[in-house]
Amino acid sequence: MARRKYVVGNWKMNGLSDAIGEAQTIFSAADGHGTVDVAICPPFTLIGTMAAAAPGKAVGGQDCHSAVSGAFTGSVAAPMLADIGASVVIVGHSERREGFGENDAEVRAKAEAGLSAGLSVILCVGEPREVRESGGAIDYVLTQIAGSVPDAFDPQRLAIAYEPIWAIGTGLVPTVADVAAMHGAIRGALAARFGDAAEAMRILYGGSVNGDNAAELLDAGDVDGALVGGASLTAAKFVPIVAAAAALG
Ligand code: PGA
Repeated sequence: MARRKYVVGNWKMNGLSDAIGEAQTIFSAADGHGTVDVAICPPFTLIGTMAAAAPGKAVGGQDCHSAVSGAFTGSVAAPMLADIGASVVIVGHSERREGFGENDAEVRAKAEAGLSAGLSVILCVGEPREVRESGGAIDYVLTQIAGSVPDAFDPQRLAIAYEPIWAIGTGLVPTVADVAAMHGAIRGALAARFGDAAEAMRILYGGSVNGDNAAELLDAGDVDGALVGGASLTAAKFVPIVAAAAALG
């Protein structure tokens, strides 16, 4: 089955109001690459403004709480994201798993909350450096998949992002062969659990993707797109990644 390429910008904790124009530039340029789905996940504070400034474009959150409401100071619920125009949410990013102690069960509950709110979910997995070096990366990631992917969902609305922690923001990237092996293993695990639906699910690669390495990474087996941090903050860096995805159809 042909899966549309999906390129997602994760702005992390970057961007003030004056960054909205950059997002508009990115979305306009992406219109010229219509075979690719493009989303931007800015900080919570910019979601409403960005969604309003880019009607019909995919704007998302970088996290959500698993509950729909309640006494959770500082947290944002998935229906709140949908309410201000978000259509996407990232869950389980390693900076949340590591920095905020989120485990697989919590990530799964967040994914379920996002899906229930009508959002598309990007669920992140990825191994730390020592696990990669010891040869245990695939087992580690498949355990995360088993524990954090919900049981029932529309496969078009749940994407997996494989992001080796040691590649995030470091300029280091795995070999194309290692990326293809991991993505193939993830697809295999999803197929064993969900059957044919796994063919419709997109598996993104993330970790130091840039305009120079995107074409090669996006062409690897079972790589359906990219989750991009640092290189998603400006149109000058992000649009070439979208163009590389478009060139691959
Ligand atoms: P990076 O971040 O592209 O800056 O490595 C990717 C991510 O954390 O999603």
